[in-house]
Amino acid sequence: MRTPLVAANWKMHKTVGEAAAYAHAFRALVAEVRDVEIVLAPPFTALHALAGALAGSGIGVAGQDLHAERQGAFTGEISAGMLRDAGAGYVIIGHSERRHLFGETDAEVGAKVRAATGARLVPIMCVGETLAERESNRTFEVLDRQLQAGLAGLAAAAGSLVVAYEPVWAIGTGRNATPEQAQEVHAHIRARLAGVLDESIARTRRILYGGSVKPGNVAALAAQPDVDGALVGGAGLDPGSFAEIVAGTRGLL
Ligand code: 13P
Repeated sequence: MRTPLVAANWKMHKTVGEAAAYAHAFRALVAEVRDVEIVLAPPFTALHALAGALAGSGIGVAGQDLHAERQGAFTGEISAGMLRDAGAGYVIIGHSERRHLFGETDAEVGAKVRAATGARLVPIMCVGETLAERESNRTFEVLDRQLQAGLAGLAAAAGSLVVAYEPVWAIGTGRNATPEQAQEVHAHIRARLAGVLDESIARTRRILYGGSVKPGNVAALAAQPDVDGALVGGAGLDPGSFAEIVAGTRGLL
């Protein structure tokens, strides 16, 4: 019912040349894949070139962030329309690095989600708790707050929404959530989506897991009923390992 989605968040890695070389190698590795939606999120500087290098492949391109306004005096920022213009079809919003390193608030995340859907970009909205929050049994409370604010005012435009559950303690640590931990949280997120949005929308939304996803653990995570794919950091930087993750998502590893 829900087509799995696997996205590589390159964070602050890769030049234009490196992105083009990756595209060339990766396209060949996933040329036969039709049952998984695949997205690459390069730095802004490589977005246009990467979209060009992937043309006709069916592989999508995402921004890693955007500004909520359409244009104006916002030095250093990029709008939803600019992302579309450069070839993006998706945008990652509210990644924990943006929230924790750059002070992005829940309300800002919500404004960005609305801006993305307004420009017909698919928002990949990230939520997740820190280790301290998990250990003090506040995981669901934190997620509920992030979801409530992130989805405020979205209503009918939520038809394209993707949610990524990325526990902060699992990002770049080599310590992934267990499949059972991920499933428990994903089921909770889906139930909240039904409450904040609507039951039929909640049933069809993809909820991705992110945090130390590797070729060796993706199959067990993706086999969970409410895990609809992965948002991959480090293991998405190499075309071979990311292609293996795509294969694992399809149950082929
Ligand atoms: P890692 O896969 O490197 O843990 O990063 C996850 C992430 O932050 C993806 O957005």
